[in-house]
Amino acid sequence: VASIEFSLNGIEEGQSVTILWRGLPVFVRNRTAKEIEEAKAVALADLKDPETDEQRTKEGHEQWLVMIANCTHLGCIPTGESGEFDGWFCPCHGSQFDTAGRIRKGPAPTNLVVPPYEFISDSLIQIG
Ligand code: FES
Repeated sequence: VASIEFSLNGIEEGQSVTILWRGLPVFVRNRTAKEIEEAKAVALADLKDPETDEQRTKEGHEQWLVMIANCTHLGCIPTGESGEFDGWFCPCHGSQFDTAGRIRKGPAPTNLVVPPYEFISDSLIQIG
């Protein structure tokens, strides 16, 4: 199946779920206001793979972060709500990602990948 629909109902603020899309794990996180603020406060000059928070989320739905869950180093699955940047920490070789899933420290060369997706309604997304 190339694309899937996924309901966001029931994912509370501060919660994440992991779903499968084309055999890939995908994190869907309902970010807290603090996490969004932290992500927006980062200067692009401090980023190895410079992308704004706006580039990684959808306008009007900034609380939702959707990303392929494989570390861009060698593919391990980082753990959420951990690491120095309040985002994700990859236990394999120590890459650290911020609350927008951007690489901040460690060997991963790029940010966690945002797959193609759209909001069909406020509580329904289509990935792919
Ligand atoms: Fe994540 Fe190496 S696979 S740091």
